[in-house]
Amino acid sequence: MYVRTVDLRNDFEAQRFGNILEQEGIPHHIKSNHDTALDGIFQMELGWGYVMAPEESKERIVELYAEYRRSERSDSMKLIFLGPPGAGKGTLASVAKERYGVPHISTGDIFRTAIKNETELGKKVKGILASGALVPDELTIALVRDRLSQADAKAGFILDGFPRTIPQAEALEEFAPVDTAVDFVISNEAVVERLSGRRVCKGCGKNYHIKFMAPKKPGICDACGGELFTRDDDKIEAITFRLKVYRDQTEPLIAYYRGRDKLLEVDATPSPDEIQADLDGKLNG
Ligand code: AP5
Repeated sequence: MYVRTVDLRNDFEAQRFGNILEQEGIPHHIKSNHDTALDGIFQMELGWGYVMAPEESKERIVELYAEYRRSERSDSMKLIFLGPPGAGKGTLASVAKERYGVPHISTGDIFRTAIKNETELGKKVKGILASGALVPDELTIALVRDRLSQADAKAGFILDGFPRTIPQAEALEEFAPVDTAVDFVISNEAVVERLSGRRVCKGCGKNYHIKFMAPKKPGICDACGGELFTRDDDKIEAITFRLKVYRDQTEPLIAYYRGRDKLLEVDATPSPDEIQADLDGKLNG
């Protein structure tokens, strides 16, 4: 069965990527969104068009497209996602990592995995995360420096939730200077609504929202059937405290990156697809 695989950005890319698929011997059809519109199917489309291919080739095509995008880029793709808790950084990063072919590195996810696995790191940070306070700079910087030294982060990365303080940003500039800091702009009210409705899968960690991204069956993960739960730091007292920590310690990073001409603002209120399209346009424009 043919399924939709990757999105293509323009005619030129359709030709180049089509040639790559030919060389790899992967059967496919390239559809432009113009064709789709003529087919009478109306849907909001991202970009110029997309590749239809057998379901079993999808994973390979996603890999080939990521390789193609890496080879096409003259500059690297070292991004940080900045913005208040609940702005949608993690949600967008899980889409953008495939699109840009770079790893998504979330310090929050690293800490939560350590807590789940009851490692030494997990024991150290468990109470800090539940309260909404920040893990000490020294520990967090060492962890990110180590993660960025791994091979998959050489060509680029999306750092989600790091840096969060000026000392973290200064350290990062020393060991892995970023190209762009993407600031997710959103109101406090929207943040509270997003965080209080967030549910996370105990099994695979996928994020949902009871109103905006509801699972098919309430309380059950669509992807793995795991149970959904509310994060300790998504309780209202912790949300209020996290917002204060953000304003006091992380918001100054906006001026820090603006002063270095690396800041790019995106409106974080529309759907993830619309935010991704806005980000693509701004990064390529
Ligand atoms: P971390 O996990 O980084 O938490 P955060 O920055 O507070 O970010 P969140 O994960 O809460 O939100 P998000 O912006 O990723 O939003 P999401 O996509 O989930 O950090 C947790 C803790 O770890 C910190 O408090 C601290 O203790 C510690 N820590 C981490 N990094 C550290 C550092 N560098 N230094 C020190 N300590 C550190 O979306 C939220 C909800 O909205 C979801 O339900 C989602 O479904 C929904 N949603 C998302 N996008 C949309 C959309 N466009 N429209 C509608 N709904 C949407």
